[in-house]
Amino acid sequence: MAQRPILIAIDGPAGAGKSATAREVAVRLGLPYLDTGAMYRAVALLAARAGLGPELDAAGREAVVGLARRLDVHFAGDPRNQRVAVGGEDVTGALRAPEVSRMASVVSAIPEVRREMVRRQRELAARAGGVVEGRDIGTVVFPDATLKVFLTADPEVRARRRFEELTGHGVAACRESVAAEQRERDLRDSTRPDSPLKPAQGAVIVDSSRLSLPQVVDAVVALLPPTP
Ligand code: DC
Repeated sequence: MAQRPILIAIDGPAGAGKSATAREVAVRLGLPYLDTGAMYRAVALLAARAGLGPELDAAGREAVVGLARRLDVHFAGDPRNQRVAVGGEDVTGALRAPEVSRMASVVSAIPEVRREMVRRQRELAARAGGVVEGRDIGTVVFPDATLKVFLTADPEVRARRRFEELTGHGVAACRESVAAEQRERDLRDSTRPDSPLKPAQGAVIVDSSRLSLPQVVDAVVALLPPTP
């Protein structure tokens, strides 16, 4: 019988360390890495460029759904240096802007947008497997993943990490507004009716508050069931 590819689902709130962990686990195991948040961010970037803001009326929502269905997104490079292109343009940096983060949380609450992204995510990862990070990977996209991890951390730790990440990239940021933006986003992501952020059935909860990145990576890799 053909072996099922290894698929590791890593879900959790913003700033828990999902991206850094997923990238390093992918490198360690030689698996593809899929950042599903970047797909919602790509839709958000196009929506913002089309002049749409976070307060969407019916016509605005419909426009966003159209953008999601036509989205031309490509990932290139190894997990540590992955680049994201939309319509052939490298938007890797632009996707991280705070207004895109906020808009991504808004567009990802639209069920038709989610349906389109989930379909693409299944297509991208089903054949070769991979380390897939997001909010609904273990609950909706790949409920029968080899391993499901819910990565979390104390809110203060998550806010500090996001602040350091932004300032580390040269983005001017205010500590309090980073924390407030994160609270707003987590609340929206975990209370939306369609695919709210929550631990999947069978997910292992890993709290990264007091762990270094290599310790989190070790913890995740150690959770993998032994290969038969
Ligand atoms: O992981 P991230 O910060 O790049 O995600 C951006 C937004 O996209 C986040 O606020 C919630 C949404 N998202 C989602 O709803 N489902 C996913 N699988 C990934 C991200």
